[in-house]
Amino acid sequence: MEIREADASDFGEIRRFMELVDHEFFPPLSARSGGIPGRISSCLAGTDSNYLIAELNGTMVGALGYLENRNGIGEAYTSFLAVSPNHRGQDIARKLDAVLTQKLQDAGISSINVTTWSTNPGAYEMYRKLGYSCTQTLKDHRDVGVDTIIFRKNIGPGD
Ligand SMILES: CC(C)(COP(=O)(O)OP(=O)(O)OC[C@H]1O[C@@H](n2cnc3c(N)ncnc32)[C@H](O)[C@@H]1OP(=O)(O)O)[C@@H](O)C(=O)NCCC(=O)NCCS
Repeated sequence: MEIREADASDFGEIRRFMELVDHEFFPPLSARSGGIPGRISSCLAGTDSNYLIAELNGTMVGALGYLENRNGIGEAYTSFLAVSPNHRGQDIARKLDAVLTQKLQDAGISSINVTTWSTNPGAYEMYRKLGYSCTQTLKDHRDVGVDTIIFRKNIGPGD
């Protein structure tokens, strides 16, 4: 498997991949502001945001969207992470996170933040296993009974 940075020519392939997993997000990515195309365009266009793409034999099997320096305070933000349903449990999310962590450490970034939601226990179990800790729970933030959960991993030199 290879992990590489995306470029503008990956737009269609990222879109196809996000549409494949859209229903697993709450709310679905397609129902959020800008929809899937807007989300991808703004991430690809940003000077400090992009996608890491995991490929097997040239096919996208995982992707991680990131913003390197949110609010200019040395904190990164993971805006999207998914692995193709047929390729889960093979450490692909772990490898994407490891590549991101190394890249951000090299850039002097001190932490990575990510949000998930309370009806997605697999994701928050994964973030714990990848070294993230829960920093905040926003009760009923996404819907009645669906909390937003904020995770952070400190990646500075002393961590
Ligand atoms: C969550 C997701 C990205 C995990 O991808 P993956 O490639 O299967 O994860 P990995 O194989 O790299 O697993 C990394 C660690 O997390 C754990 N993990 C992953 N998915 C898990 C799950 N559903 N339940 C419990 N633990 C899980 C693994 O066991 C592994 O830990 P271990 O090595 O100690 O056993 C994938 O299931 C997915 O795309 N889900 C739908 C989209 C989603 O929910 N994205 C996150 C939204 S914030």
